[in-house]
Parts: sequence; C-alpha cells; structure tokens
Amino acid sequence: MKGCCPFHGEKTPSFYVYDDGYHCFGCGAHGDAISFLMHTSAVGFVEAVQSLAGQAGLDLPKPSPDAAAIERRLLDLHGVLDAAQRHFRDGLTTPGGAAALAYLRGRGLSEATIARFGLGWAGEGRGALAAALAGQGITQQQLAQAGLLRTGDDGEVRGELFFNRVMFPIRDRAGRMISFGGRTLGDAQPKYVNGPETALFSKRRTLYGLDFARASARRGAVVVVVEGYMDVIALHQAGFPAAMAPLGTALTAEQFSELWRLSPSPVLCFDGDAAGGRAAARAAQTALPSLAPDRTIRLASLSDGEDPDTLVRKHGAAAFAAVVDAARPLDEALFGLLRGVADHRTPEARAEFRRRLELAASSIQDRSLAAEYRRTLLDRFFAASRRNAAKPVLRQVRPMLDDAAAGVSRANKLTAILLRHPGLLRDVEEAYGSLPLPPELIPIRNAMLEHYSHADVLDSCSLLNHLDALGLAQDVARVLGELPSCGRSEAQPAEAEAGWWHFYGLMHRNDLDQAKKAAERHVIDNADDPAAWARLDALSAASFRLSQGKQTDSDQEAEAEAYYE
Ligand code: UTP
Ligand code: MN
Repeated sequence: MKGCCPFHGEKTPSFYVYDDGYHCFGCGAHGDAISFLMHTSAVGFVEAVQSLAGQAGLDLPKPSPDAAAIERRLLDLHGVLDAAQRHFRDGLTTPGGAAALAYLRGRGLSEATIARFGLGWAGEGRGALAAALAGQGITQQQLAQAGLLRTGDDGEVRGELFFNRVMFPIRDRAGRMISFGGRTLGDAQPKYVNGPETALFSKRRTLYGLDFARASARRGAVVVVVEGYMDVIALHQAGFPAAMAPLGTALTAEQFSELWRLSPSPVLCFDGDAAGGRAAARAAQTALPSLAPDRTIRLASLSDGEDPDTLVRKHGAAAFAAVVDAARPLDEALFGLLRGVADHRTPEARAEFRRRLELAASSIQDRSLAAEYRRTLLDRFFAASRRNAAKPVLRQVRPMLDDAAAGVSRANKLTAILLRHPGLLRDVEEAYGSLPLPPELIPIRNAMLEHYSHADVLDSCSLLNHLDALGLAQDVARVLGELPSCGRSEAQPAEAEAGWWHFYGLMHRNDLDQAKKAAERHVIDNADDPAAWARLDALSAASFRLSQGKQTDSDQEAEAEAYYE
C-alpha cells in the first residue's frame, strides 16, 4: 500500500507499506509496526508492543515466579563461571602455568592484554577445579551445568572438560561469563575445545569479543569479524577494539543481528584461499535475507596463509587497516563469489551463473533492496558477457525441425510478440536466444538481446526506435505484420507470454516441457515471487493448450482470446 508520508509533508504519496514494514522514498523513514507506533504516538517500545498485541488479540507473557527463579539460577551459573575464571587466571602464575604464560607472551600478548581478556591456564585436571571451588560452596552439579565438567548419559559427573589448556573466557554482550574456550600449548588435537551448549551459552548467538566491541563501536571503532580467538585478541592489542569472532563455526543470522546493532556495515574478514572464499560466500548467503538499506556487510580478504594475528604481528596495525579499507561492498563481492572459477564461455555456464545471481537477489526480503540488487548484479552480468566477446548463444543455430514455412512463420510470430512485449525477454531470453531462426531474423534478435542487456526500461517504443536507428525498420515492419493477437499492444503480459510459449511449444515441445519443469522447481524455492508464478502459469497454459490438440496457429489465437476474455 502507499500513501502520503506521516513523517514529512508531501502531496504525492511516497510512503510504502509492506507486509513487514514501511519505507518512505521521500524522507527515508523506515521501520516496522512497532517503530511506526513509537514514532507516531510517542510511546516506548514496551507500550508499543502491548498496544499491538492488544489489537492483534495476543497475550503477552507476564514475568512469572518461575521466570524469576530461572533468572536467579542463571545468575548463580554466571557466578560459578566467574569463580572458575579466577581459578584459571591464578593458574597462569603457578609453576604449572609458567609454560602457558611464556606461550602467550611468545605470541606477542602484553600483560595488559592477558589481563583484559582474563586468560588463564587449566592445569592438570584430576578434580583440581572442583576441589578449588568447593570451598566457595560450588557443587559438581553446578560445574556440570556451567559446562565445565563432563557428564555421562546417566547424568553422572565424569571429570574436567578442560585440562592443560590456555583458557579463553567467553562473555555475553553484557560482559557476563558464559563459557570458555581452551587451546593446547602444542600441536595436540583438537587445537581448541569450546564449552558445550548450556543454559547460558549458545554458540550460534555468541560472538567472542562482543562485550568489548559494543563499547568501542559506539566510539567509532571499525566493526570487524575475524576467525579466531587469537585474532580478536591480537587486533584489540593493535588498536581494533571492535573485532569479534564466531566460535569456530560459520556466521549465523543471530550473529548478524548482533553485528548490525553495532554497525550498518560490519567488515567480515576471510582468508584469501579457496576455503576463505567458500566461507565468505556462505556468510553472504546467511546475511542476504536480512539485508536492508541500513543493514549490509563488507567483505575483506587476507593474503593466502595470513591471519589477522600474524598480519599485525609481522606488518603492524597499518597493514590490517589497509585490509579493512579495501573491503568490498557486498554487491560487488557477491558477483565474484557467485561467479566461481568456471569460465563462462558456454550459454549453459552463463545461464547457471545468472540463475545464481537472480537467486541471491531474490533471497533479500526487503523488496526495494532486492530489486536494486537484481538490477546491479544483472547489469554487471551483461557488462561481463559483452566483454566476453564470444557470444555462442546468439550464433548457435539448431537445424529447423519443423516444416520450413511454418517454422519461419512461427519464428516471425515469436519475434513479433517480443517486439511488442520486450519485458517478456526476462523470462524467455534463454529459449529465444537459442532458437533456430531464419537468417533474416538474426540481426533483429541480436539487436534485441543487446538492447535488453543494457536498457533500463523495456518498452516496445524505445526498442523499436533502437532497431530503427540500426537500419532494421523494414524487417521489423515485416515481422510485425505477422503479430498474433495474443501479442497485440493492449494484451496483458500474461496473455502475451502464454501465447509466446505456445508458439515455442509448437516448434519445440520437449523444450517447452523442460521450461515448465524448471519453472515448477523455481516456484518451490520462490513461492512468494509473483513473477515466478506468472511464468509457471504462462507455461502451463501453453502446455495445456498444446496437449488439448490446439496444434495450429489460428486455433491458438482463438483459444487465447476465449481463455483470457
Ligand atoms: P584457527 O585454526 O584459525 O585458529 O581456528 P587461530 O585462532 O588462528 O588459532 P591459533 O592462532 O593457532 O592459536 C579459528 C577458530 O576456530 C575454532 C576456534 O574458535 C578458533 O579460534 N577452532 C579451531 C575450534 O573450535 N577447534 C579447533 O580445533 C580449531
Ligand atoms: Mn592464528
């Protein structure tokens, strides 16, 4: 729906309301139902939620005595982890921890950094942790609940999870202890162990370093995401206090939400190798659905074999600042990531690449942004295809299968429909591009596809002007002489498209069936895209008519009119 914007004075409507929010193209006001209420009736968040819940007939959960008890127990667990953290920290200065302390210093960490991150040493294990904390009234059961002791299937406590490891305290966004990671001093595997999921600790919601990053990001520090604990710590020490890392797993949607609370475009930093490229592509896929005009990501890549920790140690903070500066906006990076390593000489490879680009754009839920992405990515795609001078898709001519005269007439009809409804090219470009055409139609098709590849608006008028300018006016007039009624200017796009596929199906029944199958698959993944449904409808209508024996061109026209009127 659209209307005049309540947030600025205007006479013509530029305020759009979607299922999930609103956006004003005049003043940029943007938000959801909750923020709308907060801004138009000056209520707070909680009141806005209460009022909306009331209108929708939903009950809001009230704080219950149970919830209060759970809250108290969780607070206890934070306390248990605090006590464990102090125990491990003190371990660094015991004789047993000397090697660990030397290790951390050897990796370039200052005393201040070691203290700031609360690093520690877990020692030999063998019940030492439980024994040390028993004095503070902490039970083995609590240690197990905090993820510090292993338990068997029977619930029986089995001993320490962490021993002989450097301990990295993990805190939530408010700085409360929620878990630990532990690293071996040597090459033993696994190199890192992380605490298990507990009532406090959910790996997919946690970012290592988030508590420090929140304060620093507010003061303008650049928000960056790197891979490991040591990278975060080394970057803090080098002057990047808003560096964070997931806990050894791919970034999740929850983690992106956290990041966007700190910055509209955090920088994700990946290795320069193939694995780094895959990780970047995966992160981009996760972020895409939630992108919005004020929520994006940038992608930076390191040179092969380097991580942020080794980079700042070898080349200093400036080297990492340069990596961050060179971070690419998502749309640009995405093109390269989806392109992959394959060369794109064959129509098949290009079609596959283009499909990936369209899929990526259509996964963005914000409609206007999805449209912008689609356009930007496809512009780049066509620019790249043009540079890639070989255009086998246009030259590859299959032999005419049909009776020659009928074939020429149908090719004229297909071309004529597109001259009147060039917007159909979006759906039929592939089919039309690989169609065997009589030689006199080839220049028109080439010019049409070329025009399609860089025109902003696809209207018949500008297309015909373009063809005119190329000296094709006479051929065009001849072709338009065969325009079937489904393709006349006043016809609905759906009618024109169904007619187009019908004529196409007369020439290539198998290809029509395949196109229909592909459209069915596409609809399954894009059920909320009206264009996907429209295409499937058109293909189904054409296929249905052919299966009803509407085999002749004139039958089809009569049928098309009856069907749509
Ligand atoms: P890396 O292997 O890149 O480690 O793993 P790193 O951070 O550079 O460690 P150093 O420099 O060798 O000390 C990146 C992250 O993946 C997780 C950890 O969170 C680590 O920080 N990881 C790695 C594990 O959980 N387990 C492992 O065995 C290895
Ligand atoms: Mn490292």
